[in-house]
Amino acid sequence: MSNIILTGFMGSGKTSTGIRLSYRLRRAFLDTDQLIEREQGKEISRIFAEEGEEQFREMETRMLKKLVETEQERIISTGGGLPMRAENRPLLHALGTVVYLKVTPETVYERLREDTGRPLLQCEDPLRRIRELMTEREAVYQAGADVVIEADGRETDDIVKEIEEKTV
Ligand code: S3P
Repeated sequence: MSNIILTGFMGSGKTSTGIRLSYRLRRAFLDTDQLIEREQGKEISRIFAEEGEEQFREMETRMLKKLVETEQERIISTGGGLPMRAENRPLLHALGTVVYLKVTPETVYERLREDTGRPLLQCEDPLRRIRELMTEREAVYQAGADVVIEADGRETDDIVKEIEEKTV
């Protein structure tokens, strides 16, 4: 049995789905953003502000390499931009089964409109930014996934059930 890795856009439900799945399967839950925040002793928005996005992307790759070296059988939620670095894709596959949670830009916008913790969306027109980023990223998420879940408008339990059926 290997890890289950959740990928997808910000606000696609990776964390809430991952936590629920971890309860169901009695496996540990990890989140790359949380691990980086803990390691760095500061929030993602501060890392972006003080060190820049490129440094954050380095931290993501380092974290993935660390995870590949440690024990398996966990549920791992990943930052939304993580699969975009070519170097990270073989690392994700080495970690386990990659599950992409697919949602529309409108869903992301509705979920994150009050959110201040995503530096990439702190702009004048977040919906437009979400659409642009999604257009850039969609094919990469798809190509890098072992399983694609249409997650829009569905209950977390229903999504968890489908992931269980397709991965375990
Ligand atoms: C990012 C997504 C965030 C976080 C950072 C950058 C992105 O994670 O890693 O703000 O580039 O899409 P979530 O997908 O968990 O929000």
